[in-house]
Amino acid sequence: MNFILKFLFIITFISIIPATIEAGDFDDCVVEQLLGMGGMGIVEQIRDPNNNQRFARKMALTLDGVETLENEFRILKMIEYKDPGITPLRAFDIQNRSLKMTLLEGKDLVQTVNENGNLPKNLFLKYFRSIAGSLVRLHKLGILHRDVKCGNIFITKEGEAVLTDFGIAKFAPGLRLKEKGKFGQTLGTPHFMPPEALTSEGLATVQNDIYGLGMSMYNVLTGKLPFNTNWGIGAYLATKQSIVLPPEIPAEFRPILEKALAFKPEDRYQSMQEFLDALNRVQ
Ligand SMILES: Nc1ncnc2c1ncn2[C@@H]1O[C@H](COP(=O)(O)OP(=O)(O)O)[C@@H](O)[C@H]1O
Ligand SMILES: [Mg+2]
Repeated sequence: MNFILKFLFIITFISIIPATIEAGDFDDCVVEQLLGMGGMGIVEQIRDPNNNQRFARKMALTLDGVETLENEFRILKMIEYKDPGITPLRAFDIQNRSLKMTLLEGKDLVQTVNENGNLPKNLFLKYFRSIAGSLVRLHKLGILHRDVKCGNIFITKEGEAVLTDFGIAKFAPGLRLKEKGKFGQTLGTPHFMPPEALTSEGLATVQNDIYGLGMSMYNVLTGKLPFNTNWGIGAYLATKQSIVLPPEIPAEFRPILEKALAFKPEDRYQSMQEFLDALNRVQ
């Protein structure tokens, strides 16, 4: 139980770091609206009055957030150079604790589901096949995303699903990484992380992304997560048993989620391609 207490303490500690850093601007861009808030800061829509071009500006509000932003800038540049098809997001500039990037028009999957309720099956399959495909390509480049969840899947107004938020993504030769945050914490969003990542101090493999994608599907199909609190996750880890899927998950997705969310990594899909193949087989 020791690590669970440490992990809960760290999460509480991070959430109370005061927002003491002043975020910067891009020349004379005008702020038009708040687009979102995440763990590390806020995202705003900005407009350059010289040419009326619009961008998204992600601003870090904590010291940790600044490092995350710099990391996101580097990873987006690497993706743009090596395989621009993975995401339409481009990083243009980073200054004064702010990242200037492509403005996406639409809503993330959390907002989409909150506003429209359950997704029709054809859209559900389209979005998740598309994100699985992006992750296959990301893994081919040797990059792990490590934060796959509904809040980091964006649905554009044209109806395309886009993988976003590369804040803690990492280039990891061999797709295996052991890296802890500054406070010794394992990086990621606990509900979307596989048991072995939560219990082995910083481990990340393709399993983080496989489990994260499976949990995102669970989240969309049920409108909830298996546990309400971090304590609930702790209790689940102690059982060493796979999550019991609720009855509202349709029969055709149950074997897929049972495999993607299995407690033991060896019982899960062994690659994102295997996961994508399973999604492609659903009629
Ligand atoms: N480029 C963008 N264009 C439009 N909205 C965005 C963009 N990037 C992020 N957002 C919105 O802001 C939210 C938080 O952004 P995200 O990159 O996930 O930051 P965090 O690292 O703080 O979670 C997203 O869920 C999305 O709704
Ligand atoms: Mg996010």
